[in-house]
Amino acid sequence: MTPHPGPESMRRLAAGSRRIRVRRRILPVLAAAAVAVLPVTRTVPSERAPAEPRLVFPTAAARESFLEALAEYRAEGRYLDLRPAALSDPAAFARWVDELRSQAREDTPRPPSRVPTTVLWWVAGDTYLGRLAIRHRLNAGLRQIGGHIGYDVRPSARGQGHGTAMLQAALPFAARLGIDPALVTCDRANVASRRVIEAAGGRYAGAAGRELHFEVPTRRR
Ligand SMILES: CC(C)(COP(=O)(O)OP(=O)(O)OC[C@H]1O[C@@H](n2cnc3c(N)ncnc32)[C@H](O)[C@@H]1OP(=O)(O)O)[C@@H](O)C(=O)NCCC(=O)NCCS
Repeated sequence: MTPHPGPESMRRLAAGSRRIRVRRRILPVLAAAAVAVLPVTRTVPSERAPAEPRLVFPTAAARESFLEALAEYRAEGRYLDLRPAALSDPAAFARWVDELRSQAREDTPRPPSRVPTTVLWWVAGDTYLGRLAIRHRLNAGLRQIGGHIGYDVRPSARGQGHGTAMLQAALPFAARLGIDPALVTCDRANVASRRVIEAAGGRYAGAAGRELHFEVPTRRR
C-alpha cells in the first residue's frame, strides 16, 4: 500500500510541481529565444567557412593567389615560361587570362602541334588550388603522352584530395565536348596521379614507354 504522504512530502511534491510548471512556462520562452538567436549563430560560421572548391574558367579574380601558386610551382621547376613579374601587373594578368580562355576556340591561331584546349581552374573563393587542361581532340603526340586531360595541383594544396575531386569535376566538361572516354596518361612513377585517374574510373589501356594510358568514362553510366 502506498503510504499517505506526510506534510514534508506534500511540500516537496508541491515544490516539484511548481518547478515543472515554471519549466513549462520558461521552456517555450527559451525555445523561442533560441530560434531568434539561431539564424545569427548559423550565419556567422558559414560566412567564415572556406568556400567549397569548384571549377571555373581562368579568372583575373584569382590573380594574387595564382601568383603565390606560381612561385610554388616555379620552386619545383614548373611553369618556368610564365613571367611572374609581368603577370603581377593586373592588366597584363587579365590579358593572359583572356588568352587562356581563347585557347578553347577553334579559330584561335596556334602552332600546328597544338589543339583547341579548355583550361579550367580549381578555386575556393578567389584562392587558386590547381588547373586542368581539356584537349578537345588528340594528335599523335597527345596519343602517346598527355591524352585529353592534363592537370596539376599547386604544391601547398597537394595530398588533400583536390586532384581527385578536380578530375572528377572536369568529366562533365569533357563529355560536353564530345569526349568519351577520355584518354588520361601518367608517368608510371606518378603514384598520386595514377590514383587520381583510377578514382575517376580510369581503366588501364596500355602504355607508351614510361607513360601509362587510362580510359576514363566521362558520362555517368
Ligand atoms: C598528381 C597530383 C595532381 C595529385 O593531386 P593531389 O591533390 O595531391 O591528389 P589527392 O590529394 O587527390 O591524392 C590522390 C591520391 O594520391 C595519393 N598521393 C598523394 N600524394 C602522393 C604522393 N606524393 N605519393 C604517393 N601517393 C600520393 C593520395 O593518398 C591519394 O590516394 P588515395 O586515393 O588512395 O587516398 C599532384 O600531385 C600534382 O599536381 N603533381 C604534379 C603534376 C602532375 O603530376 N600532374 C599529373 C600529370 S599526369
